[in-house]
Amino acid sequence: MTAPTTTTVASAPLSSVFNLHEFEVIASKALPEKVYAYYACSADDEVSYRQNHHSWARVFFRPKVLVDVSEIDLRTQMLGQQCRLPFYVSATALCGLGNPAGAECSIARACAQPQWRVPQMVSTFSSDPLAKIAAAVETPQLLWFQLYVGGDRTATAELVAQARALGLSALFVTVDAAQPGNRERDLRFKFSNADTSKGPSVMAAGQTAQGTSGALSKLIDPALSWDDIRALVRDSGLPVILKGVQRVDDALRAAELGCRGVVLSNHGGRQLDFSVPPVEVLADLVPELRKRGITKEQFDVFVDGGIRRGTDVLKALCLGASGVGIASPFLYANSLYGQEGVEHAFDLLVKELVLSMRLLGVTRIEDLNEDLLDLRGLYDRGMPPRGPFHHHDTTFETNARY
Ligand SMILES: Cc1cc2nc3c(=O)[nH]c(=O)nc-3n(C[C@H](O)[C@H](O)[C@H](O)COP(=O)(O)O)c2cc1C
Repeated sequence: MTAPTTTTVASAPLSSVFNLHEFEVIASKALPEKVYAYYACSADDEVSYRQNHHSWARVFFRPKVLVDVSEIDLRTQMLGQQCRLPFYVSATALCGLGNPAGAECSIARACAQPQWRVPQMVSTFSSDPLAKIAAAVETPQLLWFQLYVGGDRTATAELVAQARALGLSALFVTVDAAQPGNRERDLRFKFSNADTSKGPSVMAAGQTAQGTSGALSKLIDPALSWDDIRALVRDSGLPVILKGVQRVDDALRAAELGCRGVVLSNHGGRQLDFSVPPVEVLADLVPELRKRGITKEQFDVFVDGGIRRGTDVLKALCLGASGVGIASPFLYANSLYGQEGVEHAFDLLVKELVLSMRLLGVTRIEDLNEDLLDLRGLYDRGMPPRGPFHHHDTTFETNARY
């Protein structure tokens, strides 16, 4: 096992970061412009990006009082595995752009610490090779593999076999990225693998393209279809979860085909602008699964996009999600502060979760349910932007000190 590596491009002390939003605020000032552009870009007018964030603020709680909440238990199950916490690190390509020394490995080390044991979904386009990431920790089963299916299905099958041989325990097939979204912030910069040694480990050296997203897109096959999913369920030897499902009928079809679950996601608003916020799909899907007698033991529903607070996580769990994915805050934490930053982000989230469970009057994850929510505003898309930070807000000043 190699020694932990951290990177510190931020001058704000980690102790001054009080919530997950603030990692992005600092990153927007501290990361190289080109790196921040790729990490922060979303599609077209970034409406889905902003709606993802607002959508969690449309759900309110109906807390119970006078419940003994001295002991709070955050343990739960995801993919049939016992987990200490109800969230995972979602896949982000190219963690090495922001953290050349630690890349995905320092996230893996943070996740594997005994007090967290948070699953990490590793992107097909990781900067570090998969074998290096798996070797960085003693628990490769905490790693899940995010698969982009390429035009060469033999190469894809080899990637899957490698992930399985290395001990990764699930296959998240991304299905919302037939082509990268129109991410204009990123398009302003030319990606060149010659510029950086931290291009994706699966990409041949020397490639250039308009935008980092454009460079990666050449490795994704737009012909991916349900037949491929059927084949992966049959042949991969791993539980298959579809990442990027945006409709109830597609989720039900995934269940029928033998998938182990879905991630309701619009890729953080980076793909089709005006795709619906995943929380709305979650609220629509879970009753349909119940009607069909499909349980969490058979089929997990995950959700991601704009989840930044413990209260957001609780809302998703009340609506029936098995767990939630969070991507950007951990990517920024790792870029700015390495392993320590990612662990600080976990710590903040866990404190928020414990506090919010107490104030909600619930002590165990399995007792969270829809009765604790006021959903009357869920489909009201007219909500104003939610602070403290979003892309178009140039006036917000972070509380973090520099
Ligand atoms: C910089 C960046 C890179 C990403 N790379 C991938 C990827 O390689 N594969 C994938 O399936 N999703 C990728 N995503 C999407 C995330 O996994 C996740 O679905 C999305 O960011 C929503 O979560 P968030 O709002 O917590 O960031 C990426 C997101 C970001 C911000």
